[in-house]
Amino acid sequence: MTRRKLIAGNWKMNGLRSDLGAFDAIAGTACQFTAIDVAICPPATLIALACMRAPDLVIGAQDCHAEDSGAHTGNLSAQMLGDAGAKLVIVGHSERRTEQGETDADVQAKALAAHRHGLTAIVCVGETEAERDAGNAEARVSAQLDGSVPRTGEARWLVIAYEPVWAIGTGRIPTLEDVAVMHETIRAKLAELLGEEAEGVRILYGGSMNGGNAEELLAIPNVDGGLVGGASLSAEKFVPIIKAAAALA
Ligand code: PGA
Repeated sequence: MTRRKLIAGNWKMNGLRSDLGAFDAIAGTACQFTAIDVAICPPATLIALACMRAPDLVIGAQDCHAEDSGAHTGNLSAQMLGDAGAKLVIVGHSERRTEQGETDADVQAKALAAHRHGLTAIVCVGETEAERDAGNAEARVSAQLDGSVPRTGEARWLVIAYEPVWAIGTGRIPTLEDVAVMHETIRAKLAELLGEEAEGVRILYGGSMNGGNAEELLAIPNVDGGLVGGASLSAEKFVPIIKAAAALA
């Protein structure tokens, strides 16, 4: 099965209205590459503005609450994010698992909330360096998938991002062979959890992807795109990744 490659930029807690020039530059180029999907997940404060400026680009959020409304001061529901124009939401990013103590069960509930409101969910998983060094990387990621992936039958709305925690923002990436083994492991685990639907689920690689390594990472079987942090903040750094994906499409 051919899966359309997806390059998603995660701006994390970066971006003011005055930074939307960088967004415009990315959007202007991204829209020319119609054989792949490109998304930008700015901070929630910029979602509605970004949607108005680039109606053809997929705009996403970086987290959502599991419930639709209620007494949860400071939180945003998937329904609200969809109302603001988001089409996608990242859930279970390792920074949230660590800083907010989110569990696999929390992540699964958030992914289900995204699905209820018609959003694509990018469910993030990944091992720590200690887990990899101990030879437990595949087991750790399989356990996270067990706990975090909703079993909803049809799964076209679901995307998985494999992000080794130790590769995020560090400039280090796993060997290409390790990425290949992990993505194959994830595909097999998804087949166990979702049956035939697993074939259509895109599995992104994330963690220090940049213009220099994107081509070799994206060429690996079962690497269906990238979740990009630092290198998504400027067109200069993000566009080469988009081009690398488009060249493989
Ligand atoms: P990075 O972040 O590309 O800056 O390593 C990736 C991510 O955290 O999604």
